[in-house]
Amino acid sequence: MSKRDKGSMFVCQSCGTASLRWMGRCPSCGEWDSLVEESGSSPEPGAEKEVKAVALASADSLDIARVLTGNSEFDRVLGGGMVPGSLVLLGGEPGVGKSTLLLQISDLIASRGDKVLYISGEESAEQIKLRGDRLGANSKNLLVSTETGMEGIIWLVDRESPDLLVVDSIQTMRSPETASAPGSVGQVRDCTMRFLDLAKRQNLSTILIGHITKDGAIAGPKILEHIVDVVLYFEGNMSQNQKLIRTVKNRFGPSNELGVFEMTARGLQPVDNPSGLFLAERKKHVSGSVVMAAMQGTRPMLVELQALVTRTSFSTARRMTAGVDPNRITLLMAMLEKRTGIILNSCDVYMNVAGGLALSEPALDLAVIGAVVSSYRDIPVDDKTVVFGEVGLAGEVRAVSSADARIREAFGMGFKQVIMPATNIDSLDHNGKKGLKVVGSVLDFLDSAGL
Ligand code: TYD
Ligand code: MG
Repeated sequence: MSKRDKGSMFVCQSCGTASLRWMGRCPSCGEWDSLVEESGSSPEPGAEKEVKAVALASADSLDIARVLTGNSEFDRVLGGGMVPGSLVLLGGEPGVGKSTLLLQISDLIASRGDKVLYISGEESAEQIKLRGDRLGANSKNLLVSTETGMEGIIWLVDRESPDLLVVDSIQTMRSPETASAPGSVGQVRDCTMRFLDLAKRQNLSTILIGHITKDGAIAGPKILEHIVDVVLYFEGNMSQNQKLIRTVKNRFGPSNELGVFEMTARGLQPVDNPSGLFLAERKKHVSGSVVMAAMQGTRPMLVELQALVTRTSFSTARRMTAGVDPNRITLLMAMLEKRTGIILNSCDVYMNVAGGLALSEPALDLAVIGAVVSSYRDIPVDDKTVVFGEVGLAGEVRAVSSADARIREAFGMGFKQVIMPATNIDSLDHNGKKGLKVVGSVLDFLDSAGL
């Protein structure tokens, strides 16, 4: 390992960082013993017979046929169903419901006559049966195996030729060609490469379950996410009954899509009306609460933002948030001070998105300001009002995307008034501007919201 072949590099198997010399620890991602020598030489032209390029215009266009799993929220995060031959990674903390959901999906698909092979390296067949009984999963076409060796799995797939393969979890699989233990960087990467090969060669849809480390990444190589076609993560508060799945990457559809589920005595059930769920526990006539129309992927969703503004007892005021970037709050507080004279530097600001959602879009700004000022002044915002809009540093309210969809969701959920950017009004399909209040600046907004 000390002497490097000409043209080769040492590549971190976790993050892909390349180095000219071997090191015990990757300087980029901090993974130990992850650098492996890889040949850097490119093949001689003509060394392989089938080297060719085609004009993009003459390439066969892919008409992606999708298979609906029958679970509406899972189909949504997949981008409208499962693409045959695709490799999907589902990540999440232990106990969040990964095995439960995929056993349900497996049974749904198997009950329609397709064959599903569920490989579990985590639980015994009896344990899976127990869970299956609870979920009412009893389809004859659902096969379960506790084999964890790649060779055995490939053999099984050849014999059974399933339509869907589920692997629970990728960290328990082992490939005999790699010496390291299951769950190690090398094993996880090698096994994933082999599942990819299997999926593409046999056009076999495959879902891999992946464990998540303390800091929220899929345990094992980061490049796992680059290998697979679709990456889905369970996100949000573990203790809640509602469970959220976010599309982090999708080669066949939009990313950032959100699926909403509820954990019940019979497994994870899709939630058809997330706005209703997120607003269910809202208290009306309370200061510091504002309902915003957010976009989650392609779907509008109403969520409640809550702020609590109190006099600080610390030398520096606190900004504590859940579901919102605290830096954005700090910036908006500075803007408020400059543009409206509302000075919050002796106040602690706590902010929370009800329902455990994480919001990051700019359209959040108006709701943040509304909630903070409402709490600061102790004046409730009208409970039939929804707001959305970005705010610039000059205090100007800026247009946001998908205004129509947001407005439709707000009125559809029975709200009577929408406060939104004036600059969005021209782009609206929404005719008859009844119920719409447009604002051009943050002062306009505070006025419109009665703050
Ligand atoms: P599980 O799917 O095993 O989580 P993971 O595979 O992500 O580690 O189970 C998650 C939790 O769900 C477990 O604590 C029990 C609970 N649960 C229900 O509430 N209802 C059900 O129908 C099932 C099967 C599990
Ligand atoms: Mg599990």
